[in-house]
Amino acid sequence: EVLVKQIFRDPQSYLGRPVQVSGWVRTIRVSKSFGFIELNDGSFFHNIQVVFDDKLPNFQEIAKLPIATALRIEGELVESPGAKQPWEIKADKITIEGLSASDYPLQKKRHTLEYLRTIAHLRPRSNTFSAVFRLRSLAAYAIHRFFQERNFVYVHTPIITGSDCEGAGQMFRVTTLDFDDLPRDEEGRVDFRQDFFGRETHLTVSGQLEAETFCMAFRNVYTFGPTFRAENSNTPRHAAEFWMVEPEIAFADLNDNMALAEEMLKYIINYCLEQAPEEMQFFNRFIDPDLLARLDNVVNSDFGVITYTDAIELLKKADQDFKYPVAWGADLQTEHERYLTEKVFKKPVFVIDYPKEIKAFYMRLNDDGRTVAAMDLLVPGVGEIIGGSQREERLSLLEARMRECGLDFANYWWYLELRKYGGTKHAGFGLGFERAIMYLTGMANIRDVLPFPRTVNSAEF
Ligand code: 4AD
Ligand code: MG
Repeated sequence: EVLVKQIFRDPQSYLGRPVQVSGWVRTIRVSKSFGFIELNDGSFFHNIQVVFDDKLPNFQEIAKLPIATALRIEGELVESPGAKQPWEIKADKITIEGLSASDYPLQKKRHTLEYLRTIAHLRPRSNTFSAVFRLRSLAAYAIHRFFQERNFVYVHTPIITGSDCEGAGQMFRVTTLDFDDLPRDEEGRVDFRQDFFGRETHLTVSGQLEAETFCMAFRNVYTFGPTFRAENSNTPRHAAEFWMVEPEIAFADLNDNMALAEEMLKYIINYCLEQAPEEMQFFNRFIDPDLLARLDNVVNSDFGVITYTDAIELLKKADQDFKYPVAWGADLQTEHERYLTEKVFKKPVFVIDYPKEIKAFYMRLNDDGRTVAAMDLLVPGVGEIIGGSQREERLSLLEARMRECGLDFANYWWYLELRKYGGTKHAGFGLGFERAIMYLTGMANIRDVLPFPRTVNSAEF
């Protein structure tokens, strides 16, 4: 048995030889005495064409097969007379491994992405999702390769945790108690401390704080795992469950951090272009006609850098009206991010040095006393795909900032001890994995790059 990918990558080894493949029928066309099957064996984006004729004892049965039926084909790989593909399998024997019912929903016509979302259990069989999810797998592997080649240690940070990294209050509570048994105080508020963990716990919003502990031991580390945010927003780029890649590097500042992010993103793009040319061509053809040109430009140019303060000045002078106000101290909205990357820079751009009030408590205070060493990477089409910073390593300044943010020191004692025992300059960032996949494929909605999206109104599973 051979995989179709092996045939496509090295046809000369198989031409003129007997081959055996198994896969699913994507299309079938029959005339009186012969027929063609487009078979997809799952190993490769493209189908292999199978030719069969009425010399097969089960010709009549094969000719009537519904699509999606699973087959095993024994035959010979031959040059194809048709122009569409250079070779095909001439079948000597076709065995039905799993018959499909005839009401299979994915018929030949193109379906909308919205419709395909309603059949998440079948959509990996469509061309688009076959390409998206193979690319997702490959990009995940590229990320591990990138960090492992550079001696980073992969850390598994907890999914259930008591620490709130971002302080944005978008957490899913975790409890072992039945709803009716939840202990309440006089005001009726639930007291989660009586729970299994003896404290309030929730699903992680970021592995960063835990990654920092390993950073102070292993120097360069990364996490890559699921994160959760109780995002109520129904947008094309927010999900309640998404994956994040979070490197953390010691003896490093914001410039080192930006350099790492840029190198990583270029590496992932190059790896996908090299390893999945068929999928990338497909996206360029059917999803986003500028994709390959844009990615080529990204890997061959330096990313832009602009301070938040300069970005605000630029936006104030913009030849465009914005829905949300532009003012120093206000967060950048999607429309502002898009203006900066799509109209001004036309490539990925780091916005750095944000006002401390709109960023998390752990970011390092700059000498001006009002901004922090933060970096957001914005890219055309998607907006923010990376958020990161240099971390505040100075204990007294960190404590002061935590007090300003009203954080309970009892929950962060271990985080503070990292500063007490040899704490040093360090930095890190979080790449939203789904947003990176959107950027790599041109897919416009986060629901279409997550195998089983958890968003407002996501059903099933
Ligand atoms: O900017 P964020 O909130 O940064 C952090 O969580 C830091 N602790 C990361 C770090 O420094 N280690 O999130 C990082 C990235 C965002 O830039 C975005 O790409 C993605 O995570 N992200 C989401 N992706 C999909 N759905 C959501 N609801 C997301 N929220 C953040
Ligand atoms: Mg952010």
